[in-house]
Amino acid sequence: IAADLDLIEEINRLKKEKNAVILAHYYVDGAIQDLADYIGDSLGLSQQAAATPADMIVFCGVHFMGETAKVLSPQKKVVIPDLNAGCSLADSAPADKFAAFKAQHPDHIVISYINCSAEIKALTDIVCTSSNALHIVNSLPKDQKIIFAPDANLGRYVAQKTGRDMVLWDGACIVHIDISREKLQKLREENPDALLIAHPECKEDILLQADFVSSTTGLLKFVETSDHQKFIVATEAGILHKMKQAVPHKKLIPAPATDNNTCACSECPYMKMNTLEKVYNALLYEQPEIIVPEDIRLKAYDSVARMLELSK
Ligand code: 13P
Ligand code: SF4
Repeated sequence: IAADLDLIEEINRLKKEKNAVILAHYYVDGAIQDLADYIGDSLGLSQQAAATPADMIVFCGVHFMGETAKVLSPQKKVVIPDLNAGCSLADSAPADKFAAFKAQHPDHIVISYINCSAEIKALTDIVCTSSNALHIVNSLPKDQKIIFAPDANLGRYVAQKTGRDMVLWDGACIVHIDISREKLQKLREENPDALLIAHPECKEDILLQADFVSSTTGLLKFVETSDHQKFIVATEAGILHKMKQAVPHKKLIPAPATDNNTCACSECPYMKMNTLEKVYNALLYEQPEIIVPEDIRLKAYDSVARMLELSK
């Protein structure tokens, strides 16, 4: 703990010295969330990355988030604590296979979930996140055919909610699809007074029984504003850190993972690669740095900028 305090002091000192900003997703370790300048969901974080006056962004999340920050703010140095912090959704969509898939549906517009590589964003018409996907799809003409990638669970949810004609890429988040249906049912029976709140990356059967479905920020706001006192939270367990700070008097129960998971609740192994020590090293050495080739960046910028424009 004393070592952590020294690290936090050093991180804060380096941050000032280098005019750096620390952006953190709700899924990273609580100690990192507590020292971040901004904590948020994917949409909030990209809005911050586009607007910050800092010279350097230390992005505590996963690779595609740092990449999106660089796409939006090419003049800034963007570093991430661990280059290996990937994402199963981004990995599910290699650019060459996706380009071939897109070519098979020439009359479709491409909407991609922000959890994808810059190469996929460059092949995309409009990027979306879990907090604006419904709004973005609804903003298109009703007869517009849509390719939605890479999250099939979010895609199916959006298609059901909007009634739109959507072709889905078959990607999934390893964390959200690993919530145990059986254990969840038992937990609900033991806690009949709890509301089930879920992230749209969860499987269909969980979304169908959920009382509320939203992005991480949406779930956080819901527990803050709801009159209910007890919630089963079906998303990555890191969000409980902020929720507990926001509503210390309410009971928050993380949804149980299957036995495949080393942790009893759902934890993203990539988000958990972020440590205080790696944040310190990233600030000190200014690496690993995110670099996006300019031709890809310019195309990716258009699809991300369209999302930001539609989310104002
Ligand atoms: P949001 O932060 O947009 O809710 O996305 C969750 C997620 O899985 C990020 O990797
Ligand atoms: Fe990717 Fe899922 Fe981890 Fe988010 S929680 S970074 S979607 S693997």
